[in-house]
Amino acid sequence: MSGFQRVLLLGTGPTSIQLAVTLKKQLNCDVGISGRESVRSEKVFKALESSNHLIQASVQNEQHQAMAGQCYVDKVFKGYETIQGDWDTLIFSVTTDAYMDVLKQISDDLLKQVKCVVLVSPTFGSNRLVKNYMRRMNPNVEIISFSTYFGDTRWIENQPRNHVLTTGVKKKIYLGSTHYSSENVDQLRQLYERLGIALEIMKYPIEAETRNISLYVHPPLFMNDFSLRVIFGELETKKYVYKIYPEGPITQNLIEEMLAHWKEIITIIEKMNIQSINLLKFMIDDNYPVRQENLSRKDIESFNHLPSIHQQYLLYIRYTSLLIDPFSEPDEQGKYFDFSAVPFRKVFVNKEGYWDIPRMPKEDYYRVKIIQGIANYLKVDCPTIDRFIERYERKIDQFARSHSGELRSHAFTAQNFEEDLQMICDEFEKGYKEKSKS
Ligand SMILES: NC(=O)c1ccc[n+]([C@@H]2O[C@H](COP(=O)([O-])OP(=O)(O)OC[C@H]3O[C@@H](n4cnc5c(N)ncnc54)[C@H](OP(=O)(O)O)[C@@H]3O)[C@@H](O)[C@H]2O)c1
Repeated sequence: MSGFQRVLLLGTGPTSIQLAVTLKKQLNCDVGISGRESVRSEKVFKALESSNHLIQASVQNEQHQAMAGQCYVDKVFKGYETIQGDWDTLIFSVTTDAYMDVLKQISDDLLKQVKCVVLVSPTFGSNRLVKNYMRRMNPNVEIISFSTYFGDTRWIENQPRNHVLTTGVKKKIYLGSTHYSSENVDQLRQLYERLGIALEIMKYPIEAETRNISLYVHPPLFMNDFSLRVIFGELETKKYVYKIYPEGPITQNLIEEMLAHWKEIITIIEKMNIQSINLLKFMIDDNYPVRQENLSRKDIESFNHLPSIHQQYLLYIRYTSLLIDPFSEPDEQGKYFDFSAVPFRKVFVNKEGYWDIPRMPKEDYYRVKIIQGIANYLKVDCPTIDRFIERYERKIDQFARSHSGELRSHAFTAQNFEEDLQMICDEFEKGYKEKSKS
């Protein structure tokens, strides 16, 4: 029987609302939404209550009509500890650093009867983390990792409520399951096909988890001195994530670090005997295409085998080719759409009244610390990753000192995420033992 008859979404962000609409519309299953209680979620819970659990997803572009719709959610749970009932599938659409926090609040009885867990936007090692936690009470549960969330979704008018806007949809997503070629995987493949998204099924979950472009580009783009000064409010002028210095952080040095960082990750991946990726091809074929006049197919295909300086040159061309959207229509002045004008978000006072760090780079800090921990476990040197972390931790410490009398979130404290790392490495250990037995 399908594992998608009674589906519970964990998280009250825009992705949860879009996923709930999609699941109802495409699979007509029972859908529940649950979340922690916070100032932000309070607005979502209130809107759900006053609309009788009605939710809505709108789209910016006509071609994404399959994502649009409205429906009634069957159950809403305020606080993960309040979840009740039998749910076949749990879908994690919380940020990747919150999986353990959420799991620990859900009752063991509920976790025991779940058949499938889906991680919408995991990071390197997340599947193993969840598997390790679930092992104790439900060792046969299927755990599915997507490479990333399928779109770009935000709140309508920037207000957390019951209505979201999807502004973009990915062409291709990767998926890996603990149960290779299962009925649930097949059902997800068909669902994504109906949405117009190609779903490539990988042999192992970690292969899907490594096919996330943020993993490769966020640390160099956000954890350099220039970007950190912007994010932590030291520069007044508006700056843009994907622009060339001085409008943005992209310099010769950033490209060099981006390449070195990718090389460190592929050394880790190869040490785990899993298929690594061609960074340039992944950027262009799976994410944003450029015109063939800008980058040749031959260079894209042979990227992994070129000397470092040639690789840096090609990455630099990739970023300069995307300063404008090369496929947009030019205006009367010959100007193309300013694709790279994505402003940095800065530290802000959150709705609880605490200083907080925007998701980029807060979520990237967790990701990169987990990769550093896995590298240490595998005895792989990662000097570039170490440098990103040192810079970031120096900056949060500096901010904490200069705002010592003020309320600050936990994000301003350096962390080791020891528990998560230990659980992930335990799973590696178990995997090696099982392999050596067979
Ligand atoms: N939105 C997109 O277009 C998009 C695109 C690609 C990837 N993603 C990824 O998809 C995931 C969800 O995105 P979203 O836009 O829906 O995110 P979001 O609005 O930032 O947050 C999603 C949920 O995570 C919860 N959460 C955060 N930290 C938590 C913690 N420590 N314990 C428990 N719950 C916690 C939030 O609760 P509160 O509201 O109480 O903070 C909220 O319910 C993120 O990892 C994001 O990076 C999103």
